[in-house]
Amino acid sequence: MKVLMVCLGNICRSPLAEGLLANKVRLKELDIEVDSAGTSGHHAGDPPDYRMQETALQFGVSINHIRSRQFVIDDFDAFDLIFVMDTQNYNNVIEMAQTQEDREKVKFILNELYPRQNRAVPDPYYGGEQGFEKVYQLLDEATDAFLSNIKEQ
Ligand code: 4NP
Repeated sequence: MKVLMVCLGNICRSPLAEGLLANKVRLKELDIEVDSAGTSGHHAGDPPDYRMQETALQFGVSINHIRSRQFVIDDFDAFDLIFVMDTQNYNNVIEMAQTQEDREKVKFILNELYPRQNRAVPDPYYGGEQGFEKVYQLLDEATDAFLSNIKEQ
């Protein structure tokens, strides 16, 4: 299975989601590939925001190797599941979908924890340090929930 994590800049939320899920997949020896992208190409080529890197490292997750890239239409074919962080990401990705199959791949990551509620992982970019820890906690729980949900299927 191939999973793509998507946010706006691909420097805070989605690289952390990628790093968290990739670590868990490695530990559990699962056949899941993980990548991330941003709907904006504004930060393309950049490493994750240093505040997100530091928060992740505090919890033992290294994301410093990840580089931002923009989401592209070909990602619909390349991935089985496309997880978005908020409604803005959802709308931006859905606008690029060509088929119903493409649209069905796009899911709110927090729906793994809170089904059908379409809750947002808040964008921490303009907030304080607490925002980054909150993002960490939400994405840690959501990636756990995702792995337990696919196990049950
Ligand atoms: P992300 O956070 O979508 O979680 O990577 C953001 C990063 C950068 C910007 C916005 C959100 N920005 O406006 O530059």
